[in-house]
Amino acid sequence: ENEIAVLDDGKVEFFDVHGIPVEKEMLVADFDMEAAEKGGYAHFMLKEIHEQPTAIKTTITPRIVDGMPNLEECGLTYDRLKGYNNIFVVACGTAMHAGLVGKYVLEKIGRIPVTVDMASEFRYRDPIIAKGDLVILVSQSGETADTLAALRMAKERGAETLSIVNVKGSSIARESDMVLYTHAGPEISVASTKAYIVQLSVFYLLSFAIAYARGAISKEECMRLTAELQNVPNMLEVVLKTPDNCQYVASQLVNKENLLYIGRGLDYALSMEGSLKLKEISYIHSESYAAGELKHGTISLVTNNMPVIAVATQRELLDKTISNVKEVKARGAYVVLVTHGYINVDDEVADYKIGLPTIDDLLMPMLTVVPLQLIAYYTSVLRGNDVDKPRNLAKSVTVE
Ligand code: G6P
Repeated sequence: ENEIAVLDDGKVEFFDVHGIPVEKEMLVADFDMEAAEKGGYAHFMLKEIHEQPTAIKTTITPRIVDGMPNLEECGLTYDRLKGYNNIFVVACGTAMHAGLVGKYVLEKIGRIPVTVDMASEFRYRDPIIAKGDLVILVSQSGETADTLAALRMAKERGAETLSIVNVKGSSIARESDMVLYTHAGPEISVASTKAYIVQLSVFYLLSFAIAYARGAISKEECMRLTAELQNVPNMLEVVLKTPDNCQYVASQLVNKENLLYIGRGLDYALSMEGSLKLKEISYIHSESYAAGELKHGTISLVTNNMPVIAVATQRELLDKTISNVKEVKARGAYVVLVTHGYINVDDEVADYKIGLPTIDDLLMPMLTVVPLQLIAYYTSVLRGNDVDKPRNLAKSVTVE
């Protein structure tokens, strides 16, 4: 911010560009040194994947009062929540993918229009935002240059701004009108995992609260969904106990150079995150595609050398996705199906199934993302890559 810090033994002084001292408010970072150590795990990424159940609990527990979401800490009363006309979610990378899940959930149960943008696009596309709109900025670091610029633009145009941020006191948190901190603790691995899942958990609480505030769901339904969300950490512990299925899938992918992820609805949003995770750390080229759109071009790429990871947890779309899966299987693809554990799949449909425990379909992304993270992780390990510090990537992108 055009300032200079002089660090000396036990003291720090700040000056502006003209050398004039600047007074700063002292903020204490509640940084736990243990969090910056691997604690017996081979990589930070694996440790952070395993920290997800605790991170969710820490993030949601203080925000549930008498079984209902309560976001009043930042001024988001039910009265305020019912007043917004449109919602925009603006973010980059994995945080943007969390926003996509947020969009599906907010629109489905809250019946409010939601637009999701990559911050680098949003800031230059002259978006139509106005007073009465809510712009949500999502960022693990709170310092991403494009997201910060988008926040400043949204404020200039009169929208209210809410940030969902992990790093306390970061620029985006300080400059937004309201902030809901995620409590993932420090995330060291460049590939984001626990920060994503806690961003999802905040989107769920926000969606339930908005849906109830707008009268789109009853209090009973709001409480039922909130209780389902509180159940997620225990179910995740179960999912984390069986990493061997993901290790097996990684062993099948390790020598491939291309891969497709497919899904519909929420599963499509998840397949985007799965694909990003894989390409970030394994360097295998992968694309995610809306399953129903495959036939309009991309299916021409499918051969016996193009594995397909199909995500199918949304039961009202299951038959549709399975018919797309059969189409890629018929063209020779090796197919891994990620779905509910109780759903039987015969050999003509998929080569391998990863079965997940079942909760409300709306909340399945919280479970589905874990095998996708683990598949990316083990593939990267098998390829001998530097898992926590992938080439060409930075944890925090503070330049445009
Ligand atoms: C970088 C990181 C990604 C992250 C993105 C957004 O590209 O490598 O993992 O998703 O920035 O970062 P943020 O801190 O704003 O969530």
